Formats: sequence, C-alpha cells, structure tokens
Amino acid sequence: MMANVGVLGAGSWGTALSILLYENGHQVSVWSIDKAEVEMLTQKREHETKLPGVKLPEDMVITNDLKEAVTDRDFLVLAVPSPFTRATAKSMSPYIKEGQIIVDVAKGIEETTLMTLSQQIEEEIPQADVAVLSGPSHAEEVGRKLPTTCVIGAKTRKTAEYLQSMFISRVFRVYTSPDILGIELGGSLKNVIALAAGIADGLGYGDNTKAALITRGIAEIARLGVKMGGKIETFTGLTGIGDLIVTCASVHSRNRKAGFLIGQGRTMEQAMEEVKMVVEGVYSAKAAAKLAKEYGVSMPIVDQVNAVLFEGKNPAEAVDELMLREHKSEHASLPWPGEA
Ligand SMILES: NC(=O)c1ccc[n+]([C@@H]2O[C@H](COP(=O)([O-])OP(=O)(O)OC[C@H]3O[C@@H](n4cnc5c(N)ncnc54)[C@H](O)[C@@H]3O)[C@@H](O)[C@H]2O)c1
Repeated sequence: MMANVGVLGAGSWGTALSILLYENGHQVSVWSIDKAEVEMLTQKREHETKLPGVKLPEDMVITNDLKEAVTDRDFLVLAVPSPFTRATAKSMSPYIKEGQIIVDVAKGIEETTLMTLSQQIEEEIPQADVAVLSGPSHAEEVGRKLPTTCVIGAKTRKTAEYLQSMFISRVFRVYTSPDILGIELGGSLKNVIALAAGIADGLGYGDNTKAALITRGIAEIARLGVKMGGKIETFTGLTGIGDLIVTCASVHSRNRKAGFLIGQGRTMEQAMEEVKMVVEGVYSAKAAAKLAKEYGVSMPIVDQVNAVLFEGKNPAEAVDELMLREHKSEHASLPWPGEA
C-alpha cells in the first residue's frame, strides 16, 4: 500500500528515513527550515555534510514550505533534533487535521519541563495521533542499507502495525510496542551514558570499562524508567540496551565523540564546537539528573557526567568516585538464602 509521507527535518536521520520510505514505494516530500539546505538537496541530490555518498531520488520533493509539507499526508515523520521539536510542532499545528499520524524519530527530554518529545508534540498538536520510532540505527548505516532493527511505539496496535508496514523493508526490520514512554526514555537517557563511554575512551580506558558503563548504565536507565512508568522489557530490548550498545561502541555517535574529546582534556564547550552537531546527551544529562531527584532514584553515572560537563570536574576523578562508591550488591532485589 503506497502512502503519501511528509518528512520534517532534513539532517542525517531525516534524509536516511526519506530514502528508506521512498524505496519502500511511498511518495515522500521532505521539509527543512533551512533554505540553503533545501537548495543543496534539490541541486546536488545529496546531503553533502550530514549524509555524504547517499543519493536522493530525482523526483523526491524538497521544500521550505511547512504548510505544503504537512498537508494531505497519510503520515508525518518528525526528524528535527530534539531542541527544535516543540517549536516545529507548534508551527505545524495549524495545518494538522484530527487524528493525523505523526511519528517522532528524535531522542531527547526537555530540560525545563522534563517532558519527552511525544508529550511535547501532544501538547502542541493535541489533535494528532503521536507515535515514535527508535532503536539502534545510525543514519550512516541505514543510508548504506546495512541490516538494522527498530521499534515503533504507538497508542494503538492499529497505528503501530500500520507504521510497521510502512517502514519495514528487507534491510530495516521494525517491531511494534505499546510502551511509548519506555522507548523514549531509553532513547534519550542512553545519550548521557554514551558521553560517559566516550570520556572513558578519551581517558584511554579499555573494553572492561566500556562494558561496565553499558551494563551499569542500563541498570540506571531502567531504574528510573520503570519508576516513571516505562516497562522493564523495553529497557532490555532494542530501544534500551540495544541502542545503548550501539551508541557507546560506535564511531558514528556524536555523543560518544564529544565525550571522547572531554576525556582527552577539552571542556564541554570546546568539545561541542569540534563535533559541530547537536550533542543531545548534554541536554538530556541535566534532565536525567532532575528526573532522578524527582523520582528518588540513584543514577551515579548520570551524576558524574553532569559534574564533568557543568562543574568542570576532572573526568579521571569522576571515574574514581564511581569505582570507590559504597559497596553494593549487583541486583539489590535478589534475595539471599535464609533471608526474607
Ligand atoms: N543520525 C542518526 O543516526 C540518528 C539515528 C536515530 C535517531 N536520530 C535522532 O534523530 C534526530 C535528528 O538527528 P540527525 O542526526 O538527523 O540530526 P542533524 O544534526 O543531522 O539534523 C539537523 C537538521 O535539523 C534541521 N534543523 C536545524 N535547525 C532547525 C530548527 N531550528 N528548526 C527545525 N529544524 C531544524 C535541519 O534540517 C538540519 O539539517 C535526533 O534527535 C537524533 O537523536 C538520529
């Protein structure tokens, strides 16, 4: 079944998903707020800085006109980075009809309100049916058609299965889930742990350290996520441990890259300048620390990342503090024989 799709945001991920949807046989138009970007994509048929080497089809419409991009679409894909999600949703709202399906594919938590992206979109566009797509999926690899898996989270099975059938392909396998909140928390909180993994790499630490950060990191994420209403299964799945593994291990992750530079001695500002892209983990780090406090959950890695980013703490000292914390059991909920 062919659909008419509007993709909002033409960075790495918006571009890669537009091509995927086009190749699945859908009619796709792509909107960008940036006139120069629209010009470049229209002329060159390639995003030269964000997804080099991946060609856009000649008949894909690229536009700077938001109304045109969102009107009369079967579904919309919101692919702008998280700091711009609310503002973009607000501008779209007047053109959105009742029940319009909008899939958000960005990852982040708003620092001031502590809202997830789907919650922000619902606040700005209450008439929309908001879903999310997330998982271990670097745009560079999806662009090269390397086998990838993702999860669609939606409010109804009907919407989830509809979107699954739209996105799924021979190289892009999509699962469904009713746990939108868990998916969004996993996707945004893993960026904070990725900064920590980058810092560890920058300090010259090894695979043991990386594995420790990944497994203890997902323990932190799940502790908070479950308390907030997310499901434990989600944190053990593709959008939890899966996305955390890819982000902490990959050469493509800008969060890991920024952390690496900080581990090598740069300040947070210098690292952001060098990476030259939105490092969402920096925003999510503050939000995660606030959420941990609000929900009374211990998140030691998140706390140390915040201290390094915002209080100028020496990264090696932060690692020392993690290692020398009070002695703990790995799973506090597991009972010992003979104890109640
Ligand atoms: N890149 C990936 O591999 C990947 C994979 C999965 C999820 N994501 C998520 O998708 C989101 C987008 O990531 P990306 O890699 O495409 O980012 P990006 O930095 O490549 O995107 C930048 C794009 O956002 C748009 N933009 C810039 N300023 C804007 C503004 N003020 N208002 C509206 N739009 C604006 C422009 O089209 C610009 O090219 C992020 O939340 C990211 O976490 C990315």
